[in-house]
Amino acid sequence: MNTVTKNEKEIQKWNDLYVQNRTEKTLELLLQEFGKDAWFSTSLGIEDQVLLDLLVKTNLPFTIFTLDTGRLFYETYNLIEKTEKHYNRKIKIYFPNSEQVENLVNEKGINSFYESIENRKECCRVRKLEPLGRALKNAKVWITGLRREQAITRAEMQFAEWDFSHNVLKVNPLIDWTLDEIWNYTKENKVPYNPLHDKNFPSIGCAPCTREILPGEDIRAGRWWWENPTTKECGLHIQNK
Ligand code: ADX
Ligand code: SF4
Repeated sequence: MNTVTKNEKEIQKWNDLYVQNRTEKTLELLLQEFGKDAWFSTSLGIEDQVLLDLLVKTNLPFTIFTLDTGRLFYETYNLIEKTEKHYNRKIKIYFPNSEQVENLVNEKGINSFYESIENRKECCRVRKLEPLGRALKNAKVWITGLRREQAITRAEMQFAEWDFSHNVLKVNPLIDWTLDEIWNYTKENKVPYNPLHDKNFPSIGCAPCTREILPGEDIRAGRWWWENPTTKECGLHIQNK
């Protein structure tokens, strides 16, 4: 059990540093302080690829991990390998608990997530939240690629926040980057990225729960497209103050 509690002063310190220094310099300060105890969760999406590039360029230690739900696109698996080679870094891979996945699919069916929001959240809980909880037990800081612009559920997020679900300082270094800034950085720095992004998949999660978007649709319209935008979070990023 993680006995760390919310530290308002520390959160304020990092938010002030971000206002003064913006992303690159603040990342450097963060990794100087936390090193390998800073755990970066990557989904291999475009934001996370940019963030990985920025983190690697600090030349400071940190830990990278991903959650392999067992239902990712094969393009994502290929990108894991390509990214490891490109940056000469290992990405720790967390799998869900096999017994929990077996129980879920044997009791509810292999694609139960289409049937109800409860079933969908249960699948995310088993395939993403359980391994995330295990990973973050080792972390003093959790780094994510969240951006405010991505969704109405993310509009109030800050650079530094407290994550009550895992009792850890959570840091979102791209919080106010626009999608154009993300793509400009990608092109200028030749960051490797998922080819699905060029096929109208701006946001990529598990294969059965992600489709391409149509012209004019919101960037997360292809995630859990059968649900209402206000429910479209898998539970990784719950904001409870
Ligand atoms: S999700 O909650 O809708 O799935 P999204 O794809 O927008 O999240 O990604 C937001 C952030 O959550 C990413 O920048 C990353 O830090 C984390 N994340 C999402 N999916 C994964 C994953 N499979 N493995 C590790 N981190 C993830
Ligand atoms: Fe399951 Fe879909 Fe959630 Fe992936 S995104 S864990 S397949 S419900």
